[in-house]
Amino acid sequence: MSERKILITGGAGFIGSHVVRLFVNKYPAYKIINYDKLTYAGNLENLRDVEDKANYTFEKGDILDLEHLLQTFTKHDVDGVIHLAAESHVDRSLHNPNEFAATNIIGTLNILRVAQTFWHEDYRGKLFYHISTDEVYGTAEHGQYFTETTPIDPRSPYSASKASSDHFVSAFNNSFGLPTVISRCSNNYGPYHFPEKLIPLLINNILNDKPLPVYGKGENIRDWLYVEDHARAIDAIFHKGKVGEVYNIGGNNEWKNIDLVNFLCHLMDQKLGKEDGTCAKLITYVKDRAGHDLRYAIDPSKLIGETGWRPEVSFEVGLEKTIDWFLANKEWLRNVTTGAYLQYYTTMYQGR
Ligand code: NAD
Ligand code: TYD
Repeated sequence: MSERKILITGGAGFIGSHVVRLFVNKYPAYKIINYDKLTYAGNLENLRDVEDKANYTFEKGDILDLEHLLQTFTKHDVDGVIHLAAESHVDRSLHNPNEFAATNIIGTLNILRVAQTFWHEDYRGKLFYHISTDEVYGTAEHGQYFTETTPIDPRSPYSASKASSDHFVSAFNNSFGLPTVISRCSNNYGPYHFPEKLIPLLINNILNDKPLPVYGKGENIRDWLYVEDHARAIDAIFHKGKVGEVYNIGGNNEWKNIDLVNFLCHLMDQKLGKEDGTCAKLITYVKDRAGHDLRYAIDPSKLIGETGWRPEVSFEVGLEKTIDWFLANKEWLRNVTTGAYLQYYTTMYQGR
């Protein structure tokens, strides 16, 4: 196994921590550098089990800090980037779109420029891997599936910023020959998921006997993938993906929100030893999200055909593992839901 020196941005976040864990454990000969600003969403507690490994280093840094990025590339002689750092929550993007434009667009552009500058002499053995989202395709009609050639049609400030960053990545490949690859994944869930997103928010609210807010009529559809399956797909694409290409990642696992909420309530009743139907009594329909995309649905056949990757964790198993993890890690949940989280929750859900 050849040695690689991979900068993983956003490695202290939800998906990033699973990618760091997979690479650190699977590739002892690689050097994994986790570059993260530690925003509200980044938490080094997510990486306790790997922080002492010899092939892991943490660099606290902001992707908006061009100088520090270049220093970090130089210090570690980086030859690969897996770029996950981003502002990632649609609801927050509706309140503060500028922050999304700065981090997701300018931040990505900064890393592209640093990679271009630092690798300029020789692109052999180098790769810039950009992690994007299915949300850049907009909303899918019934029966339609997003493929890699589906036109980009972002409809929230979050997805607009991600789409823009995707375009910059493609432009650097086309204009400067930078070796890039992009993947676009559907909704993830699993351990370490920040409780502003639907599934961990529901679990947290059930544990605190708080209402379960369902936006609009609960008819929106998402395609859910267990986070470790996403991390394995990222591993497959990093090693087997073709330079210049885009790969869609999805679980073929579509759920209408209200059906998912009811299923989760049913599992939580079982786990907490409550009578079936108890948690579901907390369901509360609230004002819909502005511009709420109705359906996301991914066609992952290109990825499956080219790399042999497949999702391994069914939704039933994955959701149970997720609930078990949150029940076993109530302190983690408490730590991330005190202070600033309470302020966020009040602002976001007041008046809904
Ligand atoms: P997250 O919000 O949990 O984590 C983001 C991480 O980026 C945090 O650790 C944060 O500290 C870090 N970060 C933010 N701004 C930074 C900056 N300026 N400099 C350095 N670090 C910074 O996000 P996530 O859910 O793990 O998503 C990771 C990536 O995957 C994002 O690019 C997101 O768009 C994409 N994605 C997410 C999903 C999903 O379901 N969560 C699905 C598809 C794609
Ligand atoms: P979310 O987890 O925010 O992911 P995304 O918006 O990126 O798909 O939301 C998933 C779905 O759940 C989405 O249709 C919005 C809905 N939702 C609620 O109904 N209530 C909530 O409190 C949240 C956070 C989301």
